Amino acid sequence: MSKYLPIRVSTLRGDQPIKFDAYVRVAGKYILFCREGDSFENQRLERLKSKKLQRMYIPVEQEGSYAKYMSHNMEKAYDTAAGAPVEIRAQIIQGALQAAVEDLAEDVSNQAFYKALMDSGLRFKEFLQEDSALISLLTIHNHEFNIAHHEVNVAALAIAIAEETGFAESHPMLMPHLIVGALLHDVEHHHDNLNLSTTSDKLPAAQKSIYDRHAGRGAEKIKQNAFYDSLVATIVIQHEERIDGQGPEALKEKDLHQAAQIVAVANAFDQYLQYEKIDPKEALRRILIEKMGILSLDVMKSLQNALKKRNII
Ligand SMILES: [Fe+2]
Ligand SMILES: [Fe+2]
Repeated sequence: MSKYLPIRVSTLRGDQPIKFDAYVRVAGKYILFCREGDSFENQRLERLKSKKLQRMYIPVEQEGSYAKYMSHNMEKAYDTAAGAPVEIRAQIIQGALQAAVEDLAEDVSNQAFYKALMDSGLRFKEFLQEDSALISLLTIHNHEFNIAHHEVNVAALAIAIAEETGFAESHPMLMPHLIVGALLHDVEHHHDNLNLSTTSDKLPAAQKSIYDRHAGRGAEKIKQNAFYDSLVATIVIQHEERIDGQGPEALKEKDLHQAAQIVAVANAFDQYLQYEKIDPKEALRRILIEKMGILSLDVMKSLQNALKKRNII
């Protein structure tokens, strides 16, 4: 009888035949979902994702085939000469980075996952220099507000803002940590089982009080591991803060790190996109009105300029 290994659904693509058998586990039994040589077909895969299924399984002896499938996809994604459309490449990169976020967020003390996430984050930053990369990424549908998907979007927006504000140029050594901090900013939501398909103000009181502690608790998890740069925990704890001092940690604007303010704006903007289902132009209009006096105006203006330069608004 076969033994099975878990694989992440976020790494799978619906448009090509797979080189391994993929199983789902139901009540302790492994059921063949897609056979080697068949394609997931986009719709079936979308259905799995909308059911929040994060893992599928492959027979242990097919581990090598799965590794090849992954590396083939990554080569296709990062090889600009191969000619794959930027939308397809954005989907592959989004899925792979989402899987790297999930790996580390679920096992925060794993240094190999940390290193892998930082490497993927830096590669991601290079990808985002390409025309249409950011808009291709932001238009990928995020089923039921998948938290790792949101964290990847926030990292992409934070990179664009950091480049616009001059932070990337003045603090190049901090950029890898800003990216990891953005990718992990909601690390606690990988553990707290909250219903995130709705905005936090609509949560019942008991869930709301758990929500209100997610930044602080997430930072505590990070701080227990000495290998993280201190900026990562700073971003995690400060990303829900408000410049008027009314955030969960009641920090004042002067006490907020610039990188955390960048992530805070990126975070709020992606929430408008995902929860309100509005386009970037309308989301920008809303954030400028509704977050005035709450988030840094300079950082919001940098977001506006970053989006303009990329022809997104
Ligand atoms: Fe958050
Ligand atoms: Fe967030």
